[in-house]
Amino acid sequence: MQDKPFSYTIPYPGFKPSRVDNHLQRHLSDLKGQFSNEKAYQTLLKKEDVLLYEVYEIKRPEVEGEILMGISIVHPGKVGNEFFMTKGHFHTILGTAEMYYCLHGEGFMVMETPEGDTAVEALAPGKVLYIPPRWAHRSVCTSRQQDLVTFFAYPGNAGHDYGTIEEKGFRKLIIDRGDGIEIIDNPSFNE
Ligand code: PA5
Ligand code: NI
Repeated sequence: MQDKPFSYTIPYPGFKPSRVDNHLQRHLSDLKGQFSNEKAYQTLLKKEDVLLYEVYEIKRPEVEGEILMGISIVHPGKVGNEFFMTKGHFHTILGTAEMYYCLHGEGFMVMETPEGDTAVEALAPGKVLYIPPRWAHRSVCTSRQQDLVTFFAYPGNAGHDYGTIEEKGFRKLIIDRGDGIEIIDNPSFNE
């Protein structure tokens, strides 16, 4: 049987799509070892396992030819001087791309290839970001009050490889210097 075309809306404000098949929530404990200040991480975790981000997924079969879509919402906050962020991942099928459209908030997409090329793109409402095949990606919310909200779409067969990032981290970090935001080399990047 063939699928019928379908549509849905992304209301403003709120950004919860009118069609949601899966609501994913990731907390501080899900990003163990990913923030550079381990002491600040443990202190915050003892206080509360805060919700860092959530994703509303519109499910499709995870096969070539399909497109997976959703809304990602990263909440504002910091661990030490590092802003709340997503786990980040390579796609399991490295040769698959992704696109993001920023709807709300302020932040960055931190990206890198297995060969060690790096890129950081600022995200603001109206910005479209194209992530070519091979680039790992992580969203970072740098606003003090507002969520970073993005719409994303990627090939159905892409898959998520979280292990590489869990083991190595990203080469670049986004930190709050007090007088501004800085992109620095990750001192504990695991080559
Ligand atoms: O595939 C994507 O890049 C997004 O759907 C992300 O999965 C989403 O932003 C959450 O990030 P992560 O999967 O790294 O936890
Ligand atoms: Ni992705």
